[in-house]
Amino acid sequence: MADTKKPWIEGPYELIKPSKTGATAGTKQTGAEAVATEMVLIHNILIRGINAVHRQAINVATKGTDKDKKDFANYGYQWSVTVHSHHSMEETAIFPKIAEQTGVANIMDTNLEEHTAFEAGLNEYQAYLTEVKEGRVELDGEKLIKLIDNVMPILHKHLVNEVDTLLSLKQYDDRCDLEKIFRDEVGKALNMAMKDSGYRNNLLPLLFNSHDKSYENGVWMDFPPMPWVAMLAIRWLFCRTHADWWRFAPCDSTCYPQELPFA
Ligand SMILES: [Fe+2]
Ligand SMILES: [Fe+2]
Repeated sequence: MADTKKPWIEGPYELIKPSKTGATAGTKQTGAEAVATEMVLIHNILIRGINAVHRQAINVATKGTDKDKKDFANYGYQWSVTVHSHHSMEETAIFPKIAEQTGVANIMDTNLEEHTAFEAGLNEYQAYLTEVKEGRVELDGEKLIKLIDNVMPILHKHLVNEVDTLLSLKQYDDRCDLEKIFRDEVGKALNMAMKDSGYRNNLLPLLFNSHDKSYENGVWMDFPPMPWVAMLAIRWLFCRTHADWWRFAPCDSTCYPQELPFA
């Protein structure tokens, strides 16, 4: 990636720095800090994903073929489905468990309120890209950027605030194992999701294609925590299904930066 002259995807919306949770390469965090770090990782995947849409919207609209535009709309649309799915998992599984284990019923309420705050904007973005990918309207890059800039400031604020909330749970580390709660709930949700071919082919690849193993000197080189055989299977079986969509993504299926074709 060092030689590229094109704008990279660490903007316009800023990634969350590992220093926020104290994560450094080669160290193992525990408890609330480990959970906060994992959340940063996932949130950065979401931020890189939308940055790639933002960076390419105008050029795809003005220089792309009909196929480019539809593929790009599919990529951008899947990003919004991923955001919905992340927040639904938090609302139905992770947050209730945290409340139960800490014994503080309203502990995640501010975050739940923040989810509601960006829902309308996210739905608007998703509805527009649905129309584009179904060929009902022509892609308008400026309109898409406006829709992103309408929702992202609120969403980005939430992505940062939620990490702060998780870090504040350090005070409960001696009372409950938040890391275990998080891993168990995410594990259960993933096992369920993997039974759905829509998840395997349309959502999972987006996660792989938006995680950057080279970020901050490889601080998160070991993510996702999966055996190499599983990683290989995902790349060969699922990332290939809609490879035309993922060409617009910030990273390739090995989780290393790729050049954005329309940036
Ligand atoms: Fe989150
Ligand atoms: Fe959230």
